[in-house]
Amino acid sequence: MAPLIDPFARPISYLRVSVTDRCDFRCAYCMAEHMTFLPKAELLSLEELTRLCSAFVRLGVEKLRITGGEPLVRKGIMTFFEAMGKQLGGKQLGSGLKELTVTTNGSQLRKYAQGLADVGVKRINVSLDTLDDAKFAEVTRWGRLAQVLDGIAAAKEAGLRVKINAVALKGVNEDELFRLTEWCARDGHDLTWIEVMPMGEMEADRLDQFWSLRDLRARLAERYRLTDLAERSGGPARYVRLEETGQKVGFITPLSHNFCESCNRVRVTCTGELYMCLGQEDMADLRAPLRASPEDAGLEAAIRAAISRKPKGHDFDYSRQKVAGQVSRHMSHTGG
Ligand code: GTP
Ligand code: 5AD
Ligand code: SF4
Repeated sequence: MAPLIDPFARPISYLRVSVTDRCDFRCAYCMAEHMTFLPKAELLSLEELTRLCSAFVRLGVEKLRITGGEPLVRKGIMTFFEAMGKQLGGKQLGSGLKELTVTTNGSQLRKYAQGLADVGVKRINVSLDTLDDAKFAEVTRWGRLAQVLDGIAAAKEAGLRVKINAVALKGVNEDELFRLTEWCARDGHDLTWIEVMPMGEMEADRLDQFWSLRDLRARLAERYRLTDLAERSGGPARYVRLEETGQKVGFITPLSHNFCESCNRVRVTCTGELYMCLGQEDMADLRAPLRASPEDAGLEAAIRAAISRKPKGHDFDYSRQKVAGQVSRHMSHTGG
């Protein structure tokens, strides 16, 4: 079967699937405090999610990342992980799935880490912006730091590699740059910094929180020798090695540098909307073709048609010292 190639000759090999719009936290840059969540009938069932992801795998997807909301709060989610885990490493005929992974806030890892390892997940990304209890409560509104740290410990015990994702927030975790770096070095986690993107409603103070990773990197270089690495993890991060600790630190810089030319990914929401770009509004409904027929021909045609409209890139921008390129959806809608 012909693989998915977009109009800019980029092969699409990475699918991010949001399995729920719900989350047990309310991170200010990701959700409104009072969200209305979708009724259950709107969601794709776990069987439909499996069918949808399997179609993408047949069309050439090699990396599948499960997101949310918080993916691990979806009831019965391990059934879905088990089904997709069976497709890893060509265990099932015609399957080119090489990596099954998850981005999580860490709150449910004590319960699920071992199960994830058992189905073939090797590494996970955990969002953690601060190691300070009070700040953590402020950023996540509803989260408890101790629970997340315990979840990360459980992941490590289960043999999962953990990459910490920290959103760079001026005046919030600026003073924790070295603390977070040292904590990750000590516990053996990689660390990736992300520039905050203008998604959902933005209060003025959130725009003021933008902290450019150019500045962050320069600060890091005051204490460590940084060596640029050519290796990639399949996502948008660019990595350096800190020579003093040996650890890897990644930078995801949608606003101060554009990585779209090498984009290899699309995302599906929990209702089956296919977004061809995180920073654009265009999407295609895959739930209708999925439900219209038990055969996958219509679904595959809808996927191909959507990929043929994948835009060149997002319009997030900070070149005029002002955050621009806002999209109206919250980040939780597509799971990043
Ligand atoms: P790795 O597999 O470890 O490379 O992970 P990843 O960076 O692909 O996934 P993760 O879920 O950790 O994403 C980290 C951040 O990168 C999230 O905030 C995403 O929104 C952001 N991100 C991922 N892909 C894109 C993209 O195509 N465009 C933009 N603007 N941001 C992206
Ligand atoms: N900008 C940048 N990153 C964000 N995340 C959530 N909202 C935003 C935003 N507006 C991050 C989370 C998580 C990842 C999936 O996306 O912290 O690490
Ligand atoms: Fe939940 Fe993650 Fe969004 Fe925070 S960033 S509200 S943990 S989905």
